[in-house]
Amino acid sequence: MINLSLDKKLSDLEKIFGIETAMDSIGYTIMRENLDSKYIPKELSSFPVEGPVLNYTLDGNSIIVELKRGFLSISAMDNHTIYLKWSLNSFDPDKNNENRFDSVLYDDKLLTVKIGEVKLVLSDNAIDYYFKDEIVRRELFPSIGLRNIIISNVREESILSGTGERALPLNLRGCKINIWNHDANGSYGPGDDPLYINIPILMDVHHDNGYMIFYNNSAKGEMDICSEFKNTVKIEFMGGELNYYLTFGTMKDILSRMSDFIGKPLLPPKWALGYHQSRYSYNSQKELEDLYDKFQELGLPISAIHLDIDYMDGYRIFTVNTKNFPNLRDIGERMSKNGTRLVAILDPGVKWDKDFKIYREGIEGRYFIKDPEGNVIKGPVWPGNSAFPDFSNDEVRKWWASKYIFFKENGITGVWHDMNEPAVFVFWGDNSLPLSAVQSEGYHYLVHNKYGLEMAVAGYDGLLGVTDGERPFILSRSGWAGIQKYAFVWTGDTESTWKELKQTIPTILNLGLSGIPFSGVDIGGFSGNPSEELFIRWFELSSFLPFFRNHSARDTRRREPWAFSENTLKIIKKYLNLRYTLIPYFFSVAYESHSKGFPFIRPVCMEYPDICSDDVFLIGNSMFVMPVLRRGLKKVRGTLPPGRWYYFWDDTICEGNIDINVNIEDIPLFVKEGSIIPMDRDGLEFHIFPGKLDGFTYYDDDSKLQPKFIKIEFKMEEKNEGFIVTWNHSGELMDEQSELKFIAHKEGKEIQMISKISDRMLYVT
Ligand code: GLC
Repeated sequence: MINLSLDKKLSDLEKIFGIETAMDSIGYTIMRENLDSKYIPKELSSFPVEGPVLNYTLDGNSIIVELKRGFLSISAMDNHTIYLKWSLNSFDPDKNNENRFDSVLYDDKLLTVKIGEVKLVLSDNAIDYYFKDEIVRRELFPSIGLRNIIISNVREESILSGTGERALPLNLRGCKINIWNHDANGSYGPGDDPLYINIPILMDVHHDNGYMIFYNNSAKGEMDICSEFKNTVKIEFMGGELNYYLTFGTMKDILSRMSDFIGKPLLPPKWALGYHQSRYSYNSQKELEDLYDKFQELGLPISAIHLDIDYMDGYRIFTVNTKNFPNLRDIGERMSKNGTRLVAILDPGVKWDKDFKIYREGIEGRYFIKDPEGNVIKGPVWPGNSAFPDFSNDEVRKWWASKYIFFKENGITGVWHDMNEPAVFVFWGDNSLPLSAVQSEGYHYLVHNKYGLEMAVAGYDGLLGVTDGERPFILSRSGWAGIQKYAFVWTGDTESTWKELKQTIPTILNLGLSGIPFSGVDIGGFSGNPSEELFIRWFELSSFLPFFRNHSARDTRRREPWAFSENTLKIIKKYLNLRYTLIPYFFSVAYESHSKGFPFIRPVCMEYPDICSDDVFLIGNSMFVMPVLRRGLKKVRGTLPPGRWYYFWDDTICEGNIDINVNIEDIPLFVKEGSIIPMDRDGLEFHIFPGKLDGFTYYDDDSKLQPKFIKIEFKMEEKNEGFIVTWNHSGELMDEQSELKFIAHKEGKEIQMISKISDRMLYVT
């Protein structure tokens, strides 16, 4: 029965999509409910594992523990990381690896296992985890079954963060979250949960003693992070296996080690760190050309223009509306030659249309997701009723990948994966596929969270063959652990409010602490019309985020750099130019993220333990940003991280509490004393901010898969009255005779010095 609010929904849907799709969405919603009520059990069974430990065997690299009820397998992955698996039945040991444990002791029903500084003690009903002799976690034996439940005690003062994409604070203590990738339906703001990327990964750090846990289970889940009970974290999954990694150390150590298991982030092609201009949608080739020309005319640097869904023919994927875009390839290639790439959107939904080749191939190849009765699931998205490829299947991924040649043929370099939770237009309830839908890897409720990731795996493979040896660029809305290997992400359909601007920082920080360094937000928010002031502040903040894109919803006010006023254009130009000036530093930070698994922008606590703020961030470890997050603010007050900092705009040395006047064109930005910041001002310059520097790696390459690169590792030490900068280099982008231009910042002055790369040292007085 349609009640009043559903009636309103129908008329809204009808307005946006037309009556046919609105009616299809009612049909789909009813079908989904029927399927799930028939195939998903109401009661999800669960059996508690019970102690004490009866016995154990150490075989290869596994300790198989037999408990009164249930079994546990413990493997040592390295000397700080363990991998645990629970089951009601016994396991086969990991014989491929040698025993890595330092000691295993069974005494009076207590089993004590040690690797390096990590110790586990299994008692009657719990595991105590010690790191450096401090107890950091107590975990009750779990319950296993269609509900897998783990309850743990955490320390009173630790910072708990990660879990993927959250419109919540950086420290998630006190929050209850869902682990289910979800399309926010066009607009969301602070507190909305879940969003598009949910990862069962949690970091728990106090001082420099912490650990990170990654539950290798993509099933639908929930996590209560000390909201119901103090210092108690409860995580629950709807089935799947119960296995997880735990790694211990400082924040940097655990991020780096966990990335060995969930995947090191990609290294982007350099252009991806530049400015991206987008809008839902640029509707014609003429509009696209005019847009590009205007950037040139105004001297505004731009690295990419994004095409939203209207470039397609009736939203059929891998097609172009040639009436509106008669010659996309030419313009794409022309722009690309001058350094601006075309990026086009791609949704997973394949229009249900017998005359559509991709649909026919999918049906013939049995590539689409089915219901438990064997029928292909039909659900409405932008093109109307659609079928959804089963990306959990190898063969389907290969088929999908083979289609990406389409992009090259149309002058498109990068691909923007959207609606890949996957989203389906529903009338009520969850806006995705039925929980009971069947994929190669299992029921949808088990693998739904990996849909966007698996689409990215296919897409990345597809692009590998068509980018002429350049590293691929994919932007993905949804993802799971590992998405960082294949794609950038962005925070989806944010509302255009000051609150959401402020929310952007902890959201992006938590993504970084979940292993995903390359992310950004739609500048100005997606769904509404930001005031001029809000837009400027959003632009300023975003110019320091790894992914820097201006995007907005259909029918919103225009937001191109010139859309507001002359003064706004001037400010935007200042930040665009600054972004490109800082690309050498940003690319070096990206390289560090790629090689070590570190976030690109970082919470202060990553460098200075226990300092937890939602409003500020570091870029790499040398730059610090205090964005302006409130309307009409004329002063920014706050505390700098420990040590001395150069105010970027005039080299004033600052320390501790600060109070800075800000005009609309200002964002407080600082450089740490003891930094080397490579910049592209008048060619490549290495800016020296004198002080002790333990190490900074400058990295540059030609964006190829097999790159020509240059890597210079710098150090700086105090010597006599001055500083000595030393370096080592490798790679072939520069030869031994290449000159390095240094700019030393001293007492408000810039002093230029030139060295040869082969000199390997420079003295700064
Ligand atoms: C979704 C995306 C948004 C895009 C729109 C149309 O809402 O999140 O970025 O503009 O779909 O494709």
